[in-house]
Formats: sequence, structure tokens, C-alpha cells
Amino acid sequence: MEKSQVIVTGATGSIGGAAVKSLLDKDIPVIMACRNIKKAASQRDVLIKQFPHSEIEIIELELNSLNSIKTFADIIKNQGFKVNKLLNNAGIICRDFSVNEDGFETTVAVNYIGPLYLTKLMIPLMEDDFNIVNTVSVTRGVSKLDECFFDLDKKKFSQLGTYGKAKYALFLSSLTLSENIKNGSVNLTDPGVVDSNMISMHRWFDPLADILFRPFCKSPEKGAIPAVNALMTTDEVQQIGNVMLFSGNKSKVVSMKHYDNPIREWLWKVTEARLGFIS
Ligand SMILES: NC(=O)c1ccc[n+]([C@@H]2O[C@H](COP(=O)([O-])OP(=O)(O)OC[C@H]3O[C@@H](n4cnc5c(N)ncnc54)[C@H](OP(=O)(O)O)[C@@H]3O)[C@@H](O)[C@H]2O)c1
Repeated sequence: MEKSQVIVTGATGSIGGAAVKSLLDKDIPVIMACRNIKKAASQRDVLIKQFPHSEIEIIELELNSLNSIKTFADIIKNQGFKVNKLLNNAGIICRDFSVNEDGFETTVAVNYIGPLYLTKLMIPLMEDDFNIVNTVSVTRGVSKLDECFFDLDKKKFSQLGTYGKAKYALFLSSLTLSENIKNGSVNLTDPGVVDSNMISMHRWFDPLADILFRPFCKSPEKGAIPAVNALMTTDEVQQIGNVMLFSGNKSKVVSMKHYDNPIREWLWKVTEARLGFIS
């Protein structure tokens, strides 16, 4: 029987690359969903040497464009890929303010809008008992969402602040998404602080941080453990509708206090209105 495939976004990155390796090591076919096809192809060449019998597809995905996300989903549909898991791993911390072709600030687009739009397009294409894993961050804990979230301007934008808000929004909307689906599950992974490109702030203090901070960060392989655990979690462990948060080697059901957060309903409604189809 043909095996189901796992989509990994940002598979060219540190954690995404490590997650792909771990999946291939378990003999699971992977679709690398990446914005840089050349980079993905050279990574695939290396992986094939390490895992000669592996099945690795590469499909272009630019999360900063709703058009590109739609094209990606059309390829999955039209080429008949058999998918049962989606790891929304790609993410970005933007140094500067910019707005994309769809009118969203880039950090918000890549970390929040893009993964949700992709997920919504993928749900009808995935097999029953599918599993979606969204990548969040500790920064979500210090972030507050308000009406400005969808309409940031240069003054309201901040490098870490906006990233934290986007991750918090993804965290909260994952709960609502989970409530709205019947034939699959939604889970969260928090990689911890990982030695990757992402932790460069593109500021003067980067060289200092590289010496003082980087050595204490987790390796990408360790950062990928909760993502892979979340992807592999089974129905016996998880009740559909219960979102589990995976971090390190552990997992826990997301606390009810987050479900009770009044901002969750507002966030979903506005997201629905902006994307025009989430229900
Ligand atoms: N590193 C940490 O400490 C940390 C902590 C908490 C959460 N996280 C989360 O973990 C995930 C992976 O991060 P990482 O540390 O592995 O960072 P990374 O090495 O910088 O990887 C990020 C990945 O996202 C891709 N990406 C960025 N913008 C994209 C776009 N517009 N469209 C499509 N793909 C895009 C990158 O593609 P390119 O290769 O083309 O650049 C890369 O593959 C992110 O969601 C991040 O927020 C990381």
C-alpha cells in the first residue's frame, strides 16, 4: 500500500531540516514545502545519500503570498498526493516593517496567516485522522493581541513584539481550529530556544550574542523532537478536540484558561473575515 506523506514547511531551515531527517529515519515519505527550491534540492541530494530509499518531494511554497499557498494546495490536489500530516514549521522574525502583496505585515503573514490559510486548504485534501502540528514559541507568553494586529504600521511594529503576537495568535487559533474539525487533530510544538538562523537579530549585538548566548541554545535536532513527537502522536494518546502542546520530550493538554481567553473569538472572526472562508 502507498504510504501517506508528511508535509514539512520550512524544511530548509534548522528545525525543519532536522524534523525531515527524523521522519526519513522512520521511513516516512516527506514533502519539503519550501520557498527556496534550489536550497531544498541541494538538501535533498544530501538526504538521499544518507537515506537512499527515502521518498522526498519538493514543492515550492512562499508563505508570504496567499497566491503561492493556493498554488501549492492545487499541486497537492491535482497531482494526487496522499497526505495525512502537516507540520507548519516555517517562520520568520523580520527586522524591518514591510507589507506583502495581500496587505499583511510580513511577520504576521508568514507566522500566522500563511500557516492558517495553508491548513484550511489542506484539510479537505488530507486523509481521515490527519494531524496538523503548528509551531509556537515561548514568546507567545509575553504577547498581548489587540485590534492593531492585522493592520500594523511602522510605529506599532517591533521585531520581537510582532513575532510574539503572531505566534500567540497561531496558538489561540489552533484551539479554535481544533474545535472546528471532526476528522483530525491539531497539536502544537514549542521547540525551546534553538541554535538557528532565526535567533540572529540582524543587529550590532549579534556577534556578542553568538559568543554568550548561542552555546546555551538547543541543537536543531533537539528542537525538532517535540515536532516529530507531535506528528507521531496517536489517537490512543490523544482525544480529538484536545490540543496538546509538545515541548522537549513531554506533552500536555493545553490549559482551559487559554480556551476562555475572550480575544480568541475576536481573532478567529477577524481572521475569517480577512481570509474570507475559515469557518
Ligand atoms: N530557533 C528558535 O529558537 C525557535 C524558538 C521557538 C520557535 N521557533 C520556531 O521554529 C520554526 C523553525 O525555526 P528555525 O529556528 O528552524 O529557523 P530557521 O532555521 O530560520 O528556519 C526557518 C524556515 O522557515 C522558512 N521560511 C521563512 N520565511 C518563509 C516564507 N516566507 N515562506 C516559506 N518559508 C519561509 C525558511 O526558509 P529559507 O531556508 O528559504 O530561509 C526556513 O526553511 C519557526 O516557526 C520558528 O518561529 C524557533
